[in-house]
Amino acid sequence: MLELKSLRSGYDGPDVLHGLDLVVEPGTLVSVIGANGAGKSTLLRTISSLIRTRSGTITVDGTDLTNAGAPAMVSHGVSHVPEGRQVFATMTVAENLDLGAYKASRSVASEREERVLEIFPALKERMNHLAGSLSGGQQQMLAIGRGLMAEPKYLLLDEPSLGLAPIVVQTIFQILPNLSKAGVGVLLIEQNGQIALSIADKAVLLERGQITLRGTGQELLKNPEVIERYLGVGNSVGTDSEKRIEMSLRIRTALGDETGKLFSKNSIAN
Ligand SMILES: Nc1ncnc2c1ncn2[C@@H]1O[C@H](COP(=O)(O)OP(=O)(O)O)[C@@H](O)[C@H]1O
Ligand SMILES: [Mg+2]
Repeated sequence: MLELKSLRSGYDGPDVLHGLDLVVEPGTLVSVIGANGAGKSTLLRTISSLIRTRSGTITVDGTDLTNAGAPAMVSHGVSHVPEGRQVFATMTVAENLDLGAYKASRSVASEREERVLEIFPALKERMNHLAGSLSGGQQQMLAIGRGLMAEPKYLLLDEPSLGLAPIVVQTIFQILPNLSKAGVGVLLIEQNGQIALSIADKAVLLERGQITLRGTGQELLKNPEVIERYLGVGNSVGTDSEKRIEMSLRIRTALGDETGKLFSKNSIAN
């Protein structure tokens, strides 16, 4: 498992993460929700050793990898798909995928590529296209696909839904539970709490660099505080009654009807 103990980190100034404890078991999907600026991306950057851990530990399957450096994290099976679909625009889809294969041999890389293209058939038809010519959704698929080319045991995903049309978000989020079912430990960062919690085995709420709530995805989805502050339009902006009514409608939708079912674990499993 991927285990964080009392993790503290930050940039030039004071700590951004204030002593986080978190476990991601293989085969589970853990969602981290929280407002803009809570420290979600910082958490992933710390795990993947892009920024330094100031205190606390990061262990992967029992090996202490605190501040081991980004290449060591990748070679121990931790793959980070950063915020903002960072594909190499002037390289082809195939070349972008290749980069993710890291040190794998030619034949291993092409086996992995086959599996990635099964997951994202939209990429298959576009292998020779420049990544920059893809739609936002396709670029996100490519970014995740590149992460999968390392055949990670743990996949860290930073806001894969950001800026994408709902139908594309749906496509992307339907594959995530399949990855965890296949044995990958997925750590999913999302501002879109509704979707992230619907597919999560476990979930935490991150507020100002601290975990303030833990539970199953379903438990957090039903938590009144989470509902009020983190589900619905644009995450609890404004408090006027119109917005509140709109939000409660959306929440009821999420908990009861079609939309909720679409993303529920069972409908995806079947
Ligand atoms: N590269 C950076 N340099 C300095 N401060 C940063 C940097 N990135 C993020 N921060 C600060 O760290 C805090 C957490 O940011 P971030 O982890 O990006 O939050 P989230 O992903 O939850 O929106 C914020 O106060 C933000 O301003
Ligand atoms: Mg972020």
